[in-house]
Formats: sequence, C-alpha cells, structure tokens
Amino acid sequence: MQLTNKVIVVTGGSGFLGKKFCAAIAEQGGIAIVADIDVAAAERVAAQITSTYPGRAEAAALNITSTTSINALINEVQRRHGRIDALLNNAYPRNHDYGKKLEEVSYESFCENVSLHLGGYFLTAQQFCLYFRKHGGGNVVNMSSIYGLMPPRFEVYADTPMTMPVEYAAIKSAINHLTRYFAQYFKGDGIRVNSLSPGGILDGQPDLFLNKYDAHCNIKGMLDPQDVCGSLVFLLSDSSLYVTGQNLLVDDGFSL
Ligand SMILES: NC(=O)c1ccc[n+]([C@@H]2O[C@H](COP(=O)([O-])OP(=O)(O)OC[C@H]3O[C@@H](n4cnc5c(N)ncnc54)[C@H](O)[C@@H]3O)[C@@H](O)[C@H]2O)c1
Repeated sequence: MQLTNKVIVVTGGSGFLGKKFCAAIAEQGGIAIVADIDVAAAERVAAQITSTYPGRAEAAALNITSTTSINALINEVQRRHGRIDALLNNAYPRNHDYGKKLEEVSYESFCENVSLHLGGYFLTAQQFCLYFRKHGGGNVVNMSSIYGLMPPRFEVYADTPMTMPVEYAAIKSAINHLTRYFAQYFKGDGIRVNSLSPGGILDGQPDLFLNKYDAHCNIKGMLDPQDVCGSLVFLLSDSSLYVTGQNLLVDDGFSL
C-alpha cells in the first residue's frame, strides 16, 4: 500500500486513463476523488471502484476552466476529508475541431484548445497550489505526453486518418515547462510538482499504425493504461517525496 489514506483529486477522472488511475489509487489505499465535467460518468466510475474498495472513491463535479468550480471542489473535499494530499491534472478538454491536420487548424480553434487544456491545467494547478500553501504542502502531477518533448514521427500515421494535433504539441510542451515553473515558484512551501509523459496507449488503433509505432519500442510497443499506473503511483507516493520539477517518461523507449 503506497498511498494509504491519501486524498487525491483526479481531474478527468472518468475518462479513458482517469478511471484506471482512480482505481490504482484506491488499490494502493488512497481515496480517489473522481472529478469530471461529466458527473454521471464520474458517479459510474466511483461506484465501480467502491464496489471493490469501499470508501476509496467519490464522484465530484468539476470544470477545470472555472475558478468557481475548482474552489467549490477544493472546499467540499476539505470539508469531507479535512485535507487534500494531491492533485492529478488529467482532464482532456478539446473543442469540436480538435484533431484536424495542421493545414486545417484555424487560429480561433488553436487558441480555444490552448485555452481549454493548457489554461485549464494552469488554473487548476494555481488554485490547488494556493490551497496547498495555506495547508502546509501538497503534490501536483500534471499529465503530459511524449509529444510535449519530441516532434511526432509523422510516418507512423501515414495511410491512416490519425495525426498528432499541432495544438497538442504546443499544449503538452508548455505543460512540461509550467511544471518546472510551478515547482520553482512554490519551492519552500512543501509543494512538489511533476509531470508524467506516457507514450501511445492502446485504444483500438489500426494495425498499420501499431506495427509502425511498435517498431520504435523496446519490449511491448503501445502500452495499456495499466502500464502507466506504477509510475503514477510512484509520483503520488512518499517514495518520490524529494522529486520535484521532473518529467517522467513511460513510453517503452519510443521517444529515444
Ligand atoms: N490516451 C492516451 O493515449 C494518452 C497518452 C498520453 C497522454 N495522455 C493524457 O492523459 C490525460 C487523459 O487522457 P484520456 O485519453 O484519458 O482522455 P479522455 O478524453 O478519455 O478523458 C478526459 C476526461 O476529461 C474530462 N473533461 C473534459 N473537459 C473537462 C473539463 N473542462 N473539466 C473537467 N473534466 C473535463 C472528460 O469528461 C473525460 O472524462 C490527458 O492529459 C491526455 O493528454 C493520454
């Protein structure tokens, strides 16, 4: 048990990775606050986790682009549990145009996606760090990606409808640097801030893509969500107490 009784807020907690992360937190003895703009989905995820780990998950409504919503969540978790140990910034807001190829991305759409995702991560980290500073410390993990570090290998997407959106590269590289900025800014306040950068995660991608992607990897290739959980638990646990301002890559060597 590496997270015994730690209260951990997971934004986007009912999404593809978020629900696995919340289950991993509960499995390690923590209490996962499944915070999502889709409250019905958050309730389903929390119910599923508590059926195996009673009392170890709770659903909460959250919009990461609203200061009011973030502070309502902080106040409610503080009222119920008397503390918050960590924030996992993991939501994935995007607009209806998201995912287009570079030639088709309009200025307005680019800015909107940057505001939603990067702006939302900034706002959530800002509000939680102010709370943590008042309460003697805390831990922030920002979900990033290998595409915050490396330019895409566009050849792996050839002959598929897939691409790596240009907004995503801009957002995730900025999140990596925001992580270091926050770690430095809140040094001395008992707050540490790190990012976690997975490679591609298996989610029904076409074989043509998988074969090309996997050829760049070490053992497995594209990973399952479960393969990222150990590194996340490490960053949330006291095993990484003196790790701050770092970006941990979990990509089976793809980015090398
Ligand atoms: N899936 C991957 O292959 C992969 C790889 C590397 C990194 N990541 C990162 O992991 C994180 C989670 O990705 P995912 O694939 O699970 O995404 P997802 O789309 O499956 O889930 C995202 C969740 O965020 C919620 N959300 C959207 N807007 C919100 C808002 N304004 N406020 C609160 N919640 C909101 C959604 O309702 C959803 O439940 C993201 O930061 C993503 O960039 C994903």
